Amino acid sequence: MIRVFARSAARSLIIGRSFNSHISMAAFQDNRACTTMAMRIMMMSTASSSTPEDNPKETPKSVSEAKKDESNLMVSSYWGISRPMIKRKDGTDWPWNCFLPWETYTADLSVDLSKHHVPKTFSDKFAYRTVKLLRWPTDLFFKRRYGCRAMMLETVAAVPGMVGGALLHLRSLRKFQQSGGWIKALIEEAENERMHLMTMVELVHPKWYERMLVLAVQGVFFNAYFVLYLLSPKLSHRIVGYLEEEAIHSYTEYLKDINEGKIENVPAPAIAIDYWRLPKDATLKDVITVIRADEAHHRDVNHFASDIHFQGKELREAPAPVGYH
Ligand SMILES: [Fe+2]
Ligand SMILES: [Fe+2]
Repeated sequence: MIRVFARSAARSLIIGRSFNSHISMAAFQDNRACTTMAMRIMMMSTASSSTPEDNPKETPKSVSEAKKDESNLMVSSYWGISRPMIKRKDGTDWPWNCFLPWETYTADLSVDLSKHHVPKTFSDKFAYRTVKLLRWPTDLFFKRRYGCRAMMLETVAAVPGMVGGALLHLRSLRKFQQSGGWIKALIEEAENERMHLMTMVELVHPKWYERMLVLAVQGVFFNAYFVLYLLSPKLSHRIVGYLEEEAIHSYTEYLKDINEGKIENVPAPAIAIDYWRLPKDATLKDVITVIRADEAHHRDVNHFASDIHFQGKELREAPAPVGYH
């Protein structure tokens, strides 16, 4: 059984399909008593792993298709757990299980995109130079393929908030202290970044070698950032602040290519329309504009967090920017 699971995991990593689907098939083959459970998980996996081809011109999923996908995830259970029916303001059914209406928001587009933290201290200069250095191979690899670039970089961008939030959570437990809301603020950031990724994969789909690259980058970056955050949260937040400045720059270039007609301004994915409360006829340009505004907010949060540490204080001593996006 263990061998079958290991083989399934390896195969799923290579071909990029849902791990669950292999696991469920393995369980099905290995133990007929588990047939019902395996069939249910297979249904879930089939629904969640189906993705359109890598074609930026392809029409994004409609709300009705998304709703159909999500309704396939309903599994009957004697635990009595079911999500109550949720309606939109216009009376239509809420099609998403991955986020709910009260988690959506209208992006604050008035945020200053040009703000920059001028590096003064040695650690600031180190953070700035590190980010500039990381930009070089990124530019070389992606060139002006901004859709692909955004999708790949969002897989990295969603890591720091989760690492910082998890470490603050553990610190709160160890020290019997409140976090001042910073755990929530950082995890919110990670979730927001993950929604950027969920949006981008509706438009650009990763090829097998890009999936492998994400695997390698995540393995290195998660561990490196984890250790760095333990050693110096001040430097960690500063690096993320500068990474966000670069993200604003990249999304600005992305918008430039859309405006110049180099990238087709396709309709916005349904998930983005609901998450950012965009109009029904919103386009890719609207989506990139709101994502760029989010990045500007992340920049502010992370430079702010680094400044708090720079003043010799702990994050919990300053009000956490919960809901700042
Ligand atoms: Fe992002
Ligand atoms: Fe960001």
